[in-house]
Amino acid sequence: SLCKLLTRTSSHAEKPTRAFRRAVSTAGPGRRLLLSTPIFYANGPPHIGHLYSALLADALHRQRGLRSAGPSRLSTGTDEHGLKIQQAAAAAGTSPPELCARISALFHQAFTQAAISFTDFVRTSEPRHCQAVCHFWAALQERGALYKGTYEGWYCTAEEGFLPESQLTERVDAQGCTHKVSAESGHEVHWTKEENYMFKLSAFQDPLQKWLRDNPRAISPEPFYQRVLCWLGEDLPDLSISRERSRLQWGIPVPSDSTQTIYVWVDALVNYLSVLGYPETHGEWWPAAHHVVGKDILKFHAVYWPALLMAAGLSPPERIFVHSHWTVRGQKMSKSLGNVIDPFACNERYTVDGFRYFLLRQGVPERDCDYYDEKVVKVVNSELADSLGGLLNRSTAPGINPSNTYPCFSETCFPKVVDYREAEALGRAAAEDYEFVVSVASLPLQVASYFEDFQIYKALECIALCVRQTNGFFQRHKPWKLDRKDPADKLWLDTIIHVTLECLRVYGTLLQPVVPHTADKLLSRLAVEPEERKISSLTFLPRYNGKPCPFEGRQLGPDTGILFHKLEKSSQHQIENKRL
Ligand code: MSP
Repeated sequence: SLCKLLTRTSSHAEKPTRAFRRAVSTAGPGRRLLLSTPIFYANGPPHIGHLYSALLADALHRQRGLRSAGPSRLSTGTDEHGLKIQQAAAAAGTSPPELCARISALFHQAFTQAAISFTDFVRTSEPRHCQAVCHFWAALQERGALYKGTYEGWYCTAEEGFLPESQLTERVDAQGCTHKVSAESGHEVHWTKEENYMFKLSAFQDPLQKWLRDNPRAISPEPFYQRVLCWLGEDLPDLSISRERSRLQWGIPVPSDSTQTIYVWVDALVNYLSVLGYPETHGEWWPAAHHVVGKDILKFHAVYWPALLMAAGLSPPERIFVHSHWTVRGQKMSKSLGNVIDPFACNERYTVDGFRYFLLRQGVPERDCDYYDEKVVKVVNSELADSLGGLLNRSTAPGINPSNTYPCFSETCFPKVVDYREAEALGRAAAEDYEFVVSVASLPLQVASYFEDFQIYKALECIALCVRQTNGFFQRHKPWKLDRKDPADKLWLDTIIHVTLECLRVYGTLLQPVVPHTADKLLSRLAVEPEERKISSLTFLPRYNGKPCPFEGRQLGPDTGILFHKLEKSSQHQIENKRL
């Protein structure tokens, strides 16, 4: 079979096979899984960095659905409490609830527009969430994980956390005054001294190390796993997890002490449990949770959150997927620089699928990526419009395929061979056609493996490469020069088209998690029914292995329109966020 051919001939087939088995064994049928995005601060409108976090989680969620791996949920929402929001509302001349309602609706709208398949949208101001947080707090208290202490240190409101001296630097302003700022974000810090509830984080140093050593895949990609191990090798001081209510009113009060407000990060992290109905029904899902987070919030998710969970008698989440940041023409995206990129404008200009494709194709979780408009146009036009769209167009053109059907494959033209070198003497396919077909046959496993390792961009790179190879195959044999009236030529012409459509069917199926609308259009044109679109049942070119192909002879779908319209190059340099 092609599969055997593949393991014999293709060295890279090893890796996906192993990873795929692992994926199947850890996520067998019927297994539930919660996928999550972080919840987004409701102090400003969404930008493309936020959308990227959500898209990564969405692609994983959609891919899982297509693998029939078991029920899954995708949670997202808004993080609405804390000093940051309180101050943003004051600056905007409004109240925190009003600001949060407005911004939360924008995130909801942006994600809906971008086809994020979320099943739960949580707002931390909702009663169900507040109840979950209070219950979680009580669990920490009952288990002796909290104590009251005086805490003093440098507090950074923008980051909502105390920072050690080692993470501070100094900045001189225009008036020549020196300010202490966070070295990472550049935001100012203030000396704060107050009575707080402290969480015994230091007691969890060993359990956290053990958890990570026992679960080497808990944090991906690998460099972030190493970073967390490094943090855990250093001093791990206890954590202040409440604020004086006089300083911070916009938050959930400590259940047994109304003079204190629960620290916004404890409040926010519990969202992953409140969406699961904590404290009643979460057990049906937890700890089968995969969190997608940006690198800036890694410590909160990979150190504080697992420690808090252990302290409350729960297990750490199964996996944490970490991504880096988008910069804009080499600069950090920020309101003050005025270079914040608006996802609404991008979806409009590049189409939803075009922009999804760009972010997921170009975003590399291990390192920061630079955004600029020309790059979007270039990538999307060359890969979606020209390469993929062009291939569909060429292989279904009336001149090539007048009957508008899925044509038959001929074993005489493309015989099964043991040694490629014999191929040409036996049929009409050349040695390189066999190699190409082998690489497409290995694609589904390769893509599954890359998704499993949170390397969606690599999965897309492989698909793009195969699409290019298919164009090469088509071009090489010049089917438009074959004579349909000649019986031998007709068999070969149909076989070329059959192989090409089979390839397109594989690409359409595998691209569904990334470009759902385009994939749907492609699969509909190929007459692939909704129940035939699962990745789990994807078989490529069964006729080569002597098995029947259900598509042979089928009438193609009626929509003969262009798969993806080319984007126009723009003279305008950048999409600015008009909403800011
Ligand atoms: N509210 C917290 C998360 C709490 S989760 C329990 C928060 N919110 S945020 O709105 O600031 O960020 C949300 C997500 O957007 C984070 O994963 C963050 O890394 C991501 N991004 C923010 N700016 C980004 C870029 N410039 N590029 C890519 N992602 C970025 O943190």
